[in-house]
Amino acid sequence: METAEKHIEQRKPADKNEIVVDIDHISKSFDTKNVLRDINLKLKRGENVVVLGKSGQGKSVTIQCIVGLLTPDNGTVKVFGEDVSQMNELQLKELRTKIGFLFQSGALYDSMTVRDNMEFPLTRIKRLTDQNEIDQKVEEVLDGVGLIDAIDKMPSDLSGGMRKRAGLARTLIMQPEIMLYDEPTTGLDPITSREISELILHMQQKYKTSSIIITHDMECARITADRIVIMNDGEYIAEGSYEELEKSDDEFIRSFFNQTK
Ligand SMILES: Nc1ncnc2c1ncn2[C@@H]1O[C@H](COP(=O)(O)OP(=O)(O)O)[C@@H](O)[C@H]1O
Ligand SMILES: [Mg+2]
Repeated sequence: METAEKHIEQRKPADKNEIVVDIDHISKSFDTKNVLRDINLKLKRGENVVVLGKSGQGKSVTIQCIVGLLTPDNGTVKVFGEDVSQMNELQLKELRTKIGFLFQSGALYDSMTVRDNMEFPLTRIKRLTDQNEIDQKVEEVLDGVGLIDAIDKMPSDLSGGMRKRAGLARTLIMQPEIMLYDEPTTGLDPITSREISELILHMQQKYKTSSIIITHDMECARITADRIVIMNDGEYIAEGSYEELEKSDDEFIRSFFNQTK
């Protein structure tokens, strides 16, 4: 309880113009392949930005640059004003405690109950020892994603959508200031996809998280995005709200909207 409140106090919720992630003219090649050519993106505090792009465009590479798993060849990535490429291992570790990921798989530990999966990051990473505090956090986060009734189940007893929600809960229990969602709805049926998209929106509102959501699911983009950027050939070629981009005459932009209709 006490630590949770302290953590929230440390945030600066008032400054909506604060840039939490600043990607400035980055490029990245592998061998002779120029994957990222010139990427620029500013994520503001509390904002949900959706990145749309076809497969193999370097969307996941961009995410890896944000957390320092990859270093861009040129340009800078600043998170909370600090250049990620200049951070040492300790600073990177500290940075990664403020950033939550949700990968396609959701990645739960199969041998642990849902409750134990939630407790794991609290005891291992946050080093919490007060069992009452731990129970309270676990129950609150599971309640938030609608899984309180599944608290004692094993991951194998959950549906795909429930596993995804449990994966999201396990990330959110760390109260990350930034969430990176890499194709959160890929492989899910339309109803579950919609549930996850609504949950992403709900979590932004509840925890005031700033998020980058990579997807090609237009329903997910419509539900979650404050702003959308479209990526092609290693650059961001268009930006706007869902409604603005939907009206575009550009054939490439239209191709994203047409796929669902
Ligand atoms: N660590 C790596 N080493 C070499 N090539 C990579 C590496 N990571 C990604 N790539 C290549 O970069 C390109 C973009 O990958 P990725 O970011 O995963 O695309 P997507 O937009 O589908 O997420 C792909 O051609 C991929 O093979
Ligand atoms: Mg990817």
